Amino acid sequence: MSEPMERDLPGDLPRGESIHRMIRVDHAGEYGARRIYEGQLAVLGRRRDADPIRHMAAQEQRHLEAFDKLIGERRVRPTALHPLWHVAGYALGAATALLGREAAMACTVAVEEMIDEHYAKQAARLGADDPELKTMIEAFRAEEIEHRDIGLAEGAERAPAYSLLRDAIKTGSRVAIWLAERI
Ligand SMILES: [Fe+2]
Ligand SMILES: [Fe+2]
Repeated sequence: MSEPMERDLPGDLPRGESIHRMIRVDHAGEYGARRIYEGQLAVLGRRRDADPIRHMAAQEQRHLEAFDKLIGERRVRPTALHPLWHVAGYALGAATALLGREAAMACTVAVEEMIDEHYAKQAARLGADDPELKTMIEAFRAEEIEHRDIGLAEGAERAPAYSLLRDAIKTGSRVAIWLAERI
């Protein structure tokens, strides 16, 4: 699985490989996010109050397209777990939506909080390096924060077992990030 550059230095990853990892995990994350909203829309899309979900899905689509482009331009190997994010993202979105619209919003809050933290860490690590990637990350992070706020405004905290649901999804997202950076 490891790429040639990873073998060059023990310990810290070479700069280029570290940036490749960032792009790989972000691409996977945006793909997963789009699938979550697709799963939510499969269940809730015909309701009159589906517009906020559609708005978030459209933004995730734009994020994904931007990382699709970057992954091609920079010749980054995409995650080998693509089929997993395809199924798991959709299943998470649809399953929480089946619990109700507020549970879907709780899922949104949990996932978007994780992505906010993740992008904040990446931006800090980049510092002055790679302004192209950093500008993207910061722009998308602002929209992920908007998504979290939409989830809260749309009643996430009224979902049954809100804290439990949120913590479980955050843990799952953390594992997903760890995996997508590496595999
Ligand atoms: Fe996104
Ligand atoms: Fe988002």
